[in-house]
Amino acid sequence: MSYELKTPFDNKIITIPDKTGKDTIIAAIESSCDEMAFAIVKNGREVLANVVASQIDTHKKYGGVVPEVAAREHLNSVAMVIEEGFNQANLKGEDITAFASTIGPGLVGSLIVGANAAKALSIAYNKPFIGVNHLKAHVCANYIDTDLKPPFIALLVSGGHTQILKVDDYDSQTILGGTIDDAIGEVYDKVARLMDIEYPGGPNFDKMAQLGNKNRFQFTKAKVDEFDFSFSGTKTAVLYLIQKLKKEYGDDYPKNDVAASFQENVTSILYNKTINAAKKYKINQIVLAGGVAANSEIRKKFFDTKEFQIYAPKMKYCTDNASMVASCAYFLNNDMNSLDVEVFSRL
Ligand code: KG4
Ligand code: ZN
Repeated sequence: MSYELKTPFDNKIITIPDKTGKDTIIAAIESSCDEMAFAIVKNGREVLANVVASQIDTHKKYGGVVPEVAAREHLNSVAMVIEEGFNQANLKGEDITAFASTIGPGLVGSLIVGANAAKALSIAYNKPFIGVNHLKAHVCANYIDTDLKPPFIALLVSGGHTQILKVDDYDSQTILGGTIDDAIGEVYDKVARLMDIEYPGGPNFDKMAQLGNKNRFQFTKAKVDEFDFSFSGTKTAVLYLIQKLKKEYGDDYPKNDVAASFQENVTSILYNKTINAAKKYKINQIVLAGGVAANSEIRKKFFDTKEFQIYAPKMKYCTDNASMVASCAYFLNNDMNSLDVEVFSRL
């Protein structure tokens, strides 16, 4: 695990991690969706600054993220989060080994703001630029404040993805399976909307689910390949259930029980498949990653497991943040490290 980068002006070689044992300090920006975040991380694991400017209040009005609005807000907050981060860490641009940013997948308008800011810093301080894959960064959130080393099985659950990965080494991973329709975070957000739960759907839905009876309603489980997922049938089943309950109870239908039953259904599927993958490949470490890894029931199910060593990022490193991007820039050669590299929306 080591790779080389060049500085923009004099092509000086920088090795990450530093060969002489000097600290590697990476400053990173994350702006793939509705969060503008900046962080400074030492040696991939120690967070020196972590700043997040959330746009929840702005998007709440629209019931979801409006890409054009997100990009404009990012422009307003990017300079502020960078300044705040340098203050928190008590560091200057010269102290940074390399500048990184998420370059995809995500909302292109939002990504451009973060990537261009990181490239500008890289040029201003003559330090290398590192482009980072957002999904890989979510997994790397597990390196923060831990001694985690591959191999491990990762359950990546976010607003855009649901995957089980076999991570053999820092730079080597295989996708064992994924969703064939909606991502789990997306399903949470859609079901939350059906139940008139305020944006952001997932976390608010989770709070209601914790108050309900998870055994009250049963939903079938989709028949898909061993490590694949399909949640769109469950989403439709919830829609029909809500329509039926509304006829019976009106708007005072037992929302908490619906939420708890849905949560039980989807989290047990995610849990069982991940455990099966760890058993099949005889890997005793499992890591959770992505925004939905903040879910209370998912965390409970996994942390109650004694058979495997379980890792999950602290809540603030589950949802989008820049510390995970800096960590990913340190541990993985994302191979997107030229100033010419462009942002991308999908894999
Ligand atoms: O990883 P993330 O911050 O952004 C993406 O890369 O997509 O994930 C956001 C997703 C949203 O769909 C949000 O509703 C969901 O994570 N989420 C949750 C919880 N916290 C965030 N879903 C269920 N329970 C939660 N506690
Ligand atoms: Zn994310």
